[in-house]
Amino acid sequence: MKKYLKLILIVGARPNFMKIAPIISEIHKHNKLHRSSDIHIDHILVHTGQHYDLQMSDAFFQDLNIPAPNFNLEVGSASHAVQTAEIMVRFENICLQERPDWIIVVGDVNSTMACTLVASKLAIKVAHIEAGLRSFDRSMPEEINRIITDALADLLFTPSEDADQNLLREGIPKAKIKRVGNIMIDTLMSHIEKARHRKIHDQFGVKETNYIFVTLHRPSNVDNKSSLSIIMNHLGSISKRIPVIFPVHPRTSKNLSEFGLSKNPDTHQNMIICEPLGYLDTLGLVDKARFVLTDSGGLQEETTFLNIPCLTLRPNTERPITITQGTNQLASLETLDHDLISLANGNHKSGNIPALWDGQTAKRIIATLCAELGI
Ligand code: UD1
Repeated sequence: MKKYLKLILIVGARPNFMKIAPIISEIHKHNKLHRSSDIHIDHILVHTGQHYDLQMSDAFFQDLNIPAPNFNLEVGSASHAVQTAEIMVRFENICLQERPDWIIVVGDVNSTMACTLVASKLAIKVAHIEAGLRSFDRSMPEEINRIITDALADLLFTPSEDADQNLLREGIPKAKIKRVGNIMIDTLMSHIEKARHRKIHDQFGVKETNYIFVTLHRPSNVDNKSSLSIIMNHLGSISKRIPVIFPVHPRTSKNLSEFGLSKNPDTHQNMIICEPLGYLDTLGLVDKARFVLTDSGGLQEETTFLNIPCLTLRPNTERPITITQGTNQLASLETLDHDLISLANGNHKSGNIPALWDGQTAKRIIATLCAELGI
């Protein structure tokens, strides 16, 4: 008799989309390959609606060819408690209606944790992709989300050895931990040629390797007027030497206006400040940048893979492999000016691509899930 494995895949916020896209295409490949045998994977895609702007959500569905979600919970923005609670209430209904065998969550956003909590209490199994990352900084909401998700998950798909060690230290049984590599690199590898082909830097009027690409959205950098003002001043100064391209996240945009720091014609004339960009345009700009300044988790990994120097404006990172093996280095408000000048002068380390960042992670995940079920 044909066996059906029913999965619910969860996405909610911008960094989730590139992690779920390769899983969906691998499921399609699996079903095609095993058409005549007795294994079929059914999947339902749920979007919590944590991110909802065209450029924060729809643009990624288009660029990554992700089919429209089966359900959109439309939770929108709110405080952490309200957003988490709304996702839980609405997702519980979907679980009760659909009764999946497993849910698959990715990353560390509020949607990841909220859906994990719901499924665990309904005795639905949870697989977490990108498990085990730790910044050891509980002032980051993502760190709380990671700890809770990993404590409850039934299968923990990790990208690197440090992640395995973190989980073992927290008492997670070894049998639940599966090191499969970096899922985002699957998406990067399958889209890089398309991104390069667009030559997006030409559209921004900048030359290859002669601009700095910047993204900043962490509350610790952008929710405080004095920090954001220092950052904007340093960016203004460096942009007099090398143009700066800064697509602005809605959180940052709101704060720039509120703090009266929006584009200043005197200091910011060489800064290209624009709306958030889609996946392909971002990837294309990162690939040709002199260096990247960011506080994003994903960009630390993408720059390491592309061998582009990366300055991460944070006191810590949950992705230490990007520092020990890759092109990443941490910066603070105190070191930012010096670090920007130093990188502009070409002083940077070179890196290696970590093991299992090879475009095959989704394949390993689906194979592991099937093996767990004995199919
Ligand atoms: C969330 C994630 C963070 C991730 C980031 C990527 C959590 C706790 N945080 O942070 O880990 O790195 O997404 O972008 O899950 N807004 C819009 N339109 C949108 C989405 C948000 O205008 O489509 C505005 C709203 O004013 C909102 C603010 O941005 O209040 C922050 O959004 P939120 O989802 O709460 O957190 P992020 O800062 O985006």
